[in-house]
Amino acid sequence: MPEERGSYNQIVIDHLKHPRNMGEMESPDGVGEAENPACGDTMRLFIKVEAGRIIDARFLTFGCGAAIASSSITTEMIKGKTIEEALMISDQVIADALGGLPPTKVHCSILAEKAINEAVSDYQKRRAG
Ligand code: FES
Repeated sequence: MPEERGSYNQIVIDHLKHPRNMGEMESPDGVGEAENPACGDTMRLFIKVEAGRIIDARFLTFGCGAAIASSSITTEMIKGKTIEEALMISDQVIADALGGLPPTKVHCSILAEKAINEAVSDYQKRRAG
C-alpha cells in the first residue's frame, strides 16, 4: 500500500515496519477479537493478567497499515496497566499515541479499542468461569 504509507507519520511507519508484540500467545488469560465491519479487517488481542494487571500482550491483525500500527502500539500501552486502566484507552488515545492518523484512517484505531474491551471481557468470563 505505498500510496497509503505516504500519508502516515514516522511513528506509524515505525510501528508498521517493526510491529511490537506481533504473533500468537501461548495460554493467554484473555483473547479479544474485533472486526471492522466497514472493511472486514480483523484483530486478535491476547493478554496475560496477574493480580489484576496486564503483564503481557500480543496481537494478530489482518488489516491496513493503520490497524497494524494501532494494534502494535496498543500492546505497548496496555502492558503494565490494570484492567481498569486498560479499559479507559479509547480509539482517540491510541490515534494520539501514534501522533495522529490520516483522516480516512482514524476509524482504524477503533479496532484496537474494541479488541481491548473484548479481551478484558473474555478474561473476566474465564475468571468467573
Ligand atoms: S481500512 Fe480496515 S481497519 Fe483500516
